[in-house]
Amino acid sequence: MNFKNLMTRALELGMAADYRGTKRSMECCAMAAERIARQKINNRHTARQIIKEWPVYVDTVHNYGSLQTPVRKIMVGIDMPPASVVQAKELNEKGWGIDLLFVHHTVAFDQRLPWRLLPFFWPSLLELDASSLATYFDIPQVVARKLAGMSHRAMEQRRREKPPLRRPSFTLEQAFSCKLAKTFDLPLFSCHTPCDNLLQQSIREILDGAPRTAGEMIEATLAIPEYARFRRERFKAPEIIVGRLQNKLGKVWAACTLTLSRCLNEEFIKELRAAGFSSIIGILLGRQEVYQAAAKYGMNVIILPHDPSDCLGINRMFDGIAKGEKIDVLCTGDFFRSDITTGSNRN
Ligand SMILES: [Fe+2]
Repeated sequence: MNFKNLMTRALELGMAADYRGTKRSMECCAMAAERIARQKINNRHTARQIIKEWPVYVDTVHNYGSLQTPVRKIMVGIDMPPASVVQAKELNEKGWGIDLLFVHHTVAFDQRLPWRLLPFFWPSLLELDASSLATYFDIPQVVARKLAGMSHRAMEQRRREKPPLRRPSFTLEQAFSCKLAKTFDLPLFSCHTPCDNLLQQSIREILDGAPRTAGEMIEATLAIPEYARFRRERFKAPEIIVGRLQNKLGKVWAACTLTLSRCLNEEFIKELRAAGFSSIIGILLGRQEVYQAAAKYGMNVIILPHDPSDCLGINRMFDGIAKGEKIDVLCTGDFFRSDITTGSNRN
């Protein structure tokens, strides 16, 4: 397997796990591409280059390295601080032979660039797609259209409040990691939404087991090695922020991706309640507005801790990538590789 095969495989797995499915994800991307082609972003990046670099997800980036590089040993991290890049270089000097650095939280040479492009990718990444929503959550088309319209308005409002151009979402440190990777000639790949999509799929699988109460849902998540280990070692566990253990779970809005969590606000939650949803489960919902609105409309909110959730998404990704391939995964930072089929920890 080479770098290009790995990127393609990661995107395929991500799109297949997307709530819109592969076909609709591609269609949404084509719409975004058309939108970009009509506008000149800046002198250095033509629409063609941008579409090549961000084929579907704006936060999944080929940062550095030849796409023909054979990949057998990968260093994987939730984040990739400069210290991890130096660690990879030092290990390679000792003969470890790391071929690729894989990071979940997107890094980029120019940290402003992905966010500069975000408005163009909204239809493909952040705005809800009505037709897919209806099938995925099993709700009537008319409700799905209403929810999608709300997400569109929420995005527009967010853009007005915080223009992406000026938002320093990422630090200079992450740009430094890219520069270091280039200096040490270590291929680097950032892969965010595809992993989050696989996390979303895993949470949906738990929900398919039909937990009846919020407490049963928490128990089911703790049966997953990632959540169990982080609770044991870091005291980070899924928790009920609004509601009680014995509350009926009912219909759940699972929001483990940017798309499905960013849209949540009071108006949206009111509509969810009216559509028959009783609970919201996700990561990074940490906004008082969400909690207050959920409490107001009598919904439960369960928060999954960030790090083990990311670990789960990345592990699912590597279960898919490594299928039938000889690939060694080396963990850095808080990431640990867990074998989903046996539930055992490998490091
Ligand atoms: Fe994350």
